[in-house]
Amino acid sequence: MADTAKPHAQGRVPHGDLTQRVGVEQISARGVDVDTLIEKLVDAAGAEFTTYYYYTILRMYLAGEEDYKEICEDARLEDRAHFELITPRIYELGGTIPYDIRTLADRAGCPDAYLPGSSNGQHAMANPRDIVTNASAAQILEVLLEAERCAIRTWSEVCDLTFGKDPRTYDMAMRILNEEVEHEAWFIELLSKERDGVSRPSGHFRRGAPGDAPYSKNHGFYNP
Ligand SMILES: [Fe+2]
Ligand SMILES: [Fe+2]
Repeated sequence: MADTAKPHAQGRVPHGDLTQRVGVEQISARGVDVDTLIEKLVDAAGAEFTTYYYYTILRMYLAGEEDYKEICEDARLEDRAHFELITPRIYELGGTIPYDIRTLADRAGCPDAYLPGSSNGQHAMANPRDIVTNASAAQILEVLLEAERCAIRTWSEVCDLTFGKDPRTYDMAMRILNEEVEHEAWFIELLSKERDGVSRPSGHFRRGAPGDAPYSKNHGFYNP
């Protein structure tokens, strides 16, 4: 039977008021501290963006290891997809990312994924081609692994903050978390074989295209 009372036709936000958002009011009413959530999302977006940058370097230095490069590239492009997925949500909630990219990098919720041998990114370059030459694949894979672990902790926290209260942020964080868990498994597999000579399968097979991001871009899974 039709509900003639239309109980959702109006609420706490006055008709025509553009200074408030029902999409924020409703999640606040369900227990989300929206200011805290925005801060967490900015820190998380900063981590995704900086990781995308550092993975660019790390992928280059997996020189001669085409399989590692390809998998690092998937993780790199998927971190960019994570930044793209979550950043609009910050604005929907009424927030913004920092106006200065230096602030964003400093706020990143995960450590800088420096290239091993680069003196924590401070490698002094006497000339433009004075590049680091001694970063081993195992060292790089370890940096990649720990970056993924930080991402899992980050998105698990966002899932906890939003579960049952903010379905939209939860859905985004859950999609990202799915990929971060895959990334950790990939790098455990690769590092285990490279460093320890031990097989620890991740269940991985190649993405359909580099950085396919099946969860965060809602693409099809590899399921022939
Ligand atoms: Fe990510
Ligand atoms: Fe990742």
